[in-house]
Amino acid sequence: MIDFRPARPEDVEQILGLVNYVFRTSSGLEPTMGRQFPTFICPENASNLYVAVDNGRIVAHIGIKKNTAIIYGHKVCMANMGAVCTHPDYQGKGIGTALLHEVFRNLCEEGIGLVSISGTRGLYKRNSCVEVGETFTYVLEKGKFSYSYKNLEGIRFYVSEDVDKAEVLFDIYREEPIRYQRTKQEFPVLLKAVPMVHPPVPALTVVVASFEEEDTDLAYIIGYEKKPGAFKVVEYAGERMAVVWLIEKLLHDRGMQEVTLEVPAYDRDLLSILNSARLSCVSSCYPGTTVRIVNKESLWSDISPIIDEAWNEGVPLPSLAGLPDQVVDDDAKLAQFLFTRFNRPYYGQPWDQVFPLPLPWPNGLNYI
Ligand SMILES: CC(C)(COP(=O)(O)OP(=O)(O)OC[C@H]1O[C@@H](n2cnc3c(N)ncnc32)[C@H](O)[C@@H]1OP(=O)(O)O)[C@@H](O)C(=O)NCCC(=O)NCCS
Repeated sequence: MIDFRPARPEDVEQILGLVNYVFRTSSGLEPTMGRQFPTFICPENASNLYVAVDNGRIVAHIGIKKNTAIIYGHKVCMANMGAVCTHPDYQGKGIGTALLHEVFRNLCEEGIGLVSISGTRGLYKRNSCVEVGETFTYVLEKGKFSYSYKNLEGIRFYVSEDVDKAEVLFDIYREEPIRYQRTKQEFPVLLKAVPMVHPPVPALTVVVASFEEEDTDLAYIIGYEKKPGAFKVVEYAGERMAVVWLIEKLLHDRGMQEVTLEVPAYDRDLLSILNSARLSCVSSCYPGTTVRIVNKESLWSDISPIIDEAWNEGVPLPSLAGLPDQVVDDDAKLAQFLFTRFNRPYYGQPWDQVFPLPLPWPNGLNYI
């Protein structure tokens, strides 16, 4: 009989064996899951890792890392889900589905409102997980874009693969209006881990813009060379004009031929700079990600202050029960109503004035 339960610290080694086999060694890759997810698949987080056990053998795993999103200064309790797998000998028997339900049930009981899942496959979509957000993907090519920067005299940049630079990055990141809560201690750990790059690369490149004379750091880009001459940005923060300036430096001073940049729709400042440079882009939902509402009441309570500030019309907005009929009893549709901008249907007023709410970009250093 298969037993479903949260893991114990002593299970982590077996979990790593399973996830490394499924996601890495079975396709000829190095077993890097422990190194890439040091704060996720680790004894300290064991009680958030869920396992299916057959006679002492861990045969399936779903990992959770609780994460707080900070949206315009308001905290939203979330969980990120990843490293979902069933050993090939046990696949197709309903174990993944049963474990998923067990995880959702536990998170609901804990009062977590929303789960962000790294994956879009049928297992998730059959279970009320939906794609959300909207992102614009730009490929900036050498010699094909120019922008006239204002107020950036005296700016310089430096490139570093030194994780000790993390303190500077932390100060820039925490000014972001939409982000995950991240401590100063976590920053270098995540930077060193390179969680979001698959197949893994040895290290991320960090490029920082600062004012030379005032010794003030303005912006950073974190990314890696996906193939020779093609740089992919995985996270950026800080003054948006300086972000674009850094990309130009990568193209003109660091020998890159192209830089791929994904910009969430809520980042209007960066979008307006890129669009004024007449760059074309492709839009989509947040790539590779779905979300699932697990506790509607907790989520509503967390997002109510954000809604109140966005509404600002004197009379309160209707409560959760007063939402449009087509979304109120369906968690998948509710998640789309609250958080999806890509291909968004018209819901009418007051809804279209307030929603969608932004969710932090899922594929940066907090990726799971
Ligand atoms: C994805 C995975 C975890 C599913 O685990 P599982 O124990 O086999 O899951 P279940 O038996 O409960 O059911 C899921 C699978 O059975 C099939 N299935 C089950 N019910 C089904 C239904 N009603 N209709 C159609 N297909 C169904 C599907 O193939 C489905 O997988 P899908 O996500 O590709 O649609 C497993 O296949 C796995 O480890 N894959 C490799 C790692 C991986 O890709 N992980 C996900 C990262 S996003």
